[in-house]
Amino acid sequence: MPSFHLKTYGCQMNVYDSARMENLLKPLGYHSTDDMDSADLILFNTCTVREKAKHKLMSEIGKLKELKQKKEVVLAIGGCVAQEEAEKLFRKAPHIDIVFGVDQIDQLPQLISQVREHKTQISLTAFDTDPTFSLSYLIPDRCPTSAYVTIIKGCDKFCSFCIVPMTRGLEKSRSPQEIIGEIQKLVQGGTQEVTLLGQNVNSYDYKKIYFPELLRKVDQIPGLRRIRFTSPHPQDFNDEMISCYVGLPRLCKHLHLPVQSGNNDVLHRMRRWYTVEDYVQKINKLREAVPAVSVSTDIIVGFPGETLLQFENTLHLLETVNYDFVYSFKYSERSGTRAARDFEDDVPEAEKERRLAILQRLQDRISLHKNKMLEGTLEEVLIEKQSLDGKLQGRTDSFKIVHFEGNPSCIGQFKMVRLDKALPHSFLGTALDQQRSSKVYFQQPASKI
Ligand code: SAH
Ligand code: SF4
Ligand code: F3S
Repeated sequence: MPSFHLKTYGCQMNVYDSARMENLLKPLGYHSTDDMDSADLILFNTCTVREKAKHKLMSEIGKLKELKQKKEVVLAIGGCVAQEEAEKLFRKAPHIDIVFGVDQIDQLPQLISQVREHKTQISLTAFDTDPTFSLSYLIPDRCPTSAYVTIIKGCDKFCSFCIVPMTRGLEKSRSPQEIIGEIQKLVQGGTQEVTLLGQNVNSYDYKKIYFPELLRKVDQIPGLRRIRFTSPHPQDFNDEMISCYVGLPRLCKHLHLPVQSGNNDVLHRMRRWYTVEDYVQKINKLREAVPAVSVSTDIIVGFPGETLLQFENTLHLLETVNYDFVYSFKYSERSGTRAARDFEDDVPEAEKERRLAILQRLQDRISLHKNKMLEGTLEEVLIEKQSLDGKLQGRTDSFKIVHFEGNPSCIGQFKMVRLDKALPHSFLGTALDQQRSSKVYFQQPASKI
């Protein structure tokens, strides 16, 4: 039986696409292996959102040259680096066999058999020109407790720093029927929670069915317990979205709303068409309507021309919004973007690093402080997996990670858990029916988690 080794980089959309690839390969008799050296097919699903990730990938591809000389193995590169570089990848790494774009996933089996038969290299990366967008159903042989479902692909926003519109193409929404059909199948297989995915979920528009209406439809799927989505764009996050948080019981009380910067001039140069004031007002409105909601964001430091004062505005925004957590990045120039064309990448690397460290230290303090306020409360946790130290790991409705002792047979179930100890990025807790063992559990050092 042939084997494949699939490595996924980048965002949740790639995780979803990788699951689609597995789904296509398994019916052909392929089984998945963790051992890359023994695999008959090596697949990389790649990301190019920042330069560093791409560098690392290229060096990993480079290392496979030796393996290719030793044995017969097909090397296929998909995802955003494939989309960006297309056949240029063959020049950089001539041992690659297949380069396939984000719209060619369904053709993967044919591409593999062509390469095997004709011993040629193939690059296929053109965007699908069909005005509709349909995905082969993900009918998984395992339905994860928490599953991703892509609802919209591409992005029309063209933020000046971002390569995604070039690697994923323009926005196309998937039909509600297909989305709901897929979620129903997942739920039948045991999935409890879905995260609706898109670079810009709240620009979802399928024949005038918009995102709030889609959410309402998904909320009615019998057996589904939790709904999440990522990412919305601040510009399109409106009052109707706030009504969804109030009116849809299964929509989780967490909003990830990427702001990128706390300074209006920087936002303007980023081509993010909202102001810090608009953004804060939207968050305040949501919090008024749903006080328990948790809020997180993405930040870029060291965008071209970002002054110290502008950076400090971002720090100030973190304190104003009092985020639950933040994903933060150093600006990375991407060729083909407007920022690369129009601005000089003039904040020195060491200064970007310094700003990132300051920002992350501040946010850790804020996150810890916020989490501490929840110590002692009871939360319903959906158990997703066993973590490395053997504890169970799950998330609250508000997306907080909780570790606690329990039986792995509970994975996939909900449990009431007391949040005993807050850490900056998670909690240690005790399941209500495990309280008698809590003494032993408290003796464990927090650093083990
Ligand atoms: N669609 C989402 C984000 C997609 S990319 C949105 O609009 O918010 C995920 C995050 O990567 C972005 O939010 C941004 O913070 C970061 N990012 C994107 N391009 C980047 C770049 N060139 N340099 C550094 N960080 C970048
Ligand atoms: Fe990139 Fe902006 Fe689109 Fe997000 S909205 S994917 S940051 S261009
Ligand atoms: Fe990366 Fe492509 Fe996602 S560039 S972040 S894998 S859309």
